[in-house]
Amino acid sequence: MKYAARIESLATNKAECIAIPIYDSLEMSAPAANLNQISDGQISRILKSGDLKKEAGSTVLAYNLLNTKIQRIILFNAGPKEGLTSKKFILIVKKLIVALKTLPIKSASVSLGDIKCEGRSSEWLVERTIEYFESETYEYLEMKGISKTKKTLFDQVNFLCDRKLLTAVRAGIKRGKALAQGIQLAKNLANAPGNICTPSYLARKARQLCRGNTNLSLTILEERDMKKLGMGAFLAVSQGSDEPGKLVLINYQGTKKTKRPHVLVGKGITFDTGGISLKPPASMPDMIYDMSGAASVLGTLSCIAEQELPINVIGVLAAAENMPSGKATRPGDIVKTMSGQTVEILNTDAEGRLVLCDALTYIDKFKPASVIDIATLTGAIITSLGSVASGLFSNDDQLAEQILEAGEIACDRAWRLPIWEEYQTQIASAFADMANIGGKEAGSITAACYLARFAKNYRWAHLDVAGTAFKGSGLSKGCTGRPIALLCQYLYDQI
Ligand code: BES
Ligand code: MN
Ligand code: ZN
Repeated sequence: MKYAARIESLATNKAECIAIPIYDSLEMSAPAANLNQISDGQISRILKSGDLKKEAGSTVLAYNLLNTKIQRIILFNAGPKEGLTSKKFILIVKKLIVALKTLPIKSASVSLGDIKCEGRSSEWLVERTIEYFESETYEYLEMKGISKTKKTLFDQVNFLCDRKLLTAVRAGIKRGKALAQGIQLAKNLANAPGNICTPSYLARKARQLCRGNTNLSLTILEERDMKKLGMGAFLAVSQGSDEPGKLVLINYQGTKKTKRPHVLVGKGITFDTGGISLKPPASMPDMIYDMSGAASVLGTLSCIAEQELPINVIGVLAAAENMPSGKATRPGDIVKTMSGQTVEILNTDAEGRLVLCDALTYIDKFKPASVIDIATLTGAIITSLGSVASGLFSNDDQLAEQILEAGEIACDRAWRLPIWEEYQTQIASAFADMANIGGKEAGSITAACYLARFAKNYRWAHLDVAGTAFKGSGLSKGCTGRPIALLCQYLYDQI
């Protein structure tokens, strides 16, 4: 989708369709009042018909507005004039898109008029609008053989605004486009099935991203490099697969080298069969999404690099495939991690923490300002938080607060759970320094407790996105792009 900011000139506008806000008390927004005047009261007459419901997001379509060249207008109920919440604003945008998608138009014009959202800027309104225009019109068609036609016809959105708001709208467009592009990259990667999206494929996509931007550079650790570094836990996961595992490092340098980087580490299991601790058939197809964390890291870097933000960020993709085979890790095997700590692998399906722990040890050398790992780590987090909030765990209260707040602003919420010492006993092992599973209770917490043992030297947070990163099986399945909006907002706040 293309986006542009246009200064309003409703009297001369020839748009195929303009969407104009009306507040829920049926009070006109500034552009609606303007149009009402131009059209000798036609907007008032439409509102008097009662066709526009008093519910936020309702729409009514009208044609042939008097004294104008506009082909159609959509009046949309923009909720309360005062005290509009972020959530409601997004609902309104989503419903507006539903209405626009039914029309045979090539471009749509949207006036956000004088809509104000509590605690949010005009720039934010535009950024979010673009984010949802993209997510509500996204379709994954790369794998279709013949039916490749998109359902949405329009491919241009013009934001109409007055001169005062032009700078803010342009800034919002820049942010929104960069975010949408990052999310699209992540969705296309995560939706790609396991036979296409392998660790090598992830590495290729990372290379492509770096080629397109001079501030990005790439380093790849191959299995032989990882062997030299003593990454026994990572290699225990990838050894069962014919696809070689890779640790992909992407460096974004947006400011002076001496500034400590923020590090994002993504779980990149391109397919998780469970290994020898094989998953039951019904829960396996969703495991193409087990690299969603890595995809979100790539998407976030794309968004940051696109805007050339003055910050240093290192993205790490811990990419491997978890397969059963004659070479695969057996339940009970004990391996040595790069940190020197040993792990008894009691369940080969708890593989995410195994690839992440060595990545977390490796990145210590970058002296990170903060580290966030993103992982579809546990089914248990879906039981706890459903698909509403991502699970957040952290060894630093201030970092946790910053991430929660970024999630609020970006409407991509997280909720914090504890990693108290009391839970650590659950991952005790008879023979090794720890086990890779902690029993039935508090599965997401014991997974985070395991990771915390490798993240002692820096401010660290872990996002368990198993419930939020994708919608599982069925015809509406797909990667959601979460938590890219949260991560980008967190990084904006660090500048
Ligand atoms: N990738 C899964 C977690 C997952 C489950 C993600 C459902 C998305 C949807 C992870 O590798 C896994 O298998 N975790 C196990 C851990 C257990 C063996 C301790 C789980 O959650 O059952
Ligand atoms: Mn698993
Ligand atoms: Zn997994």
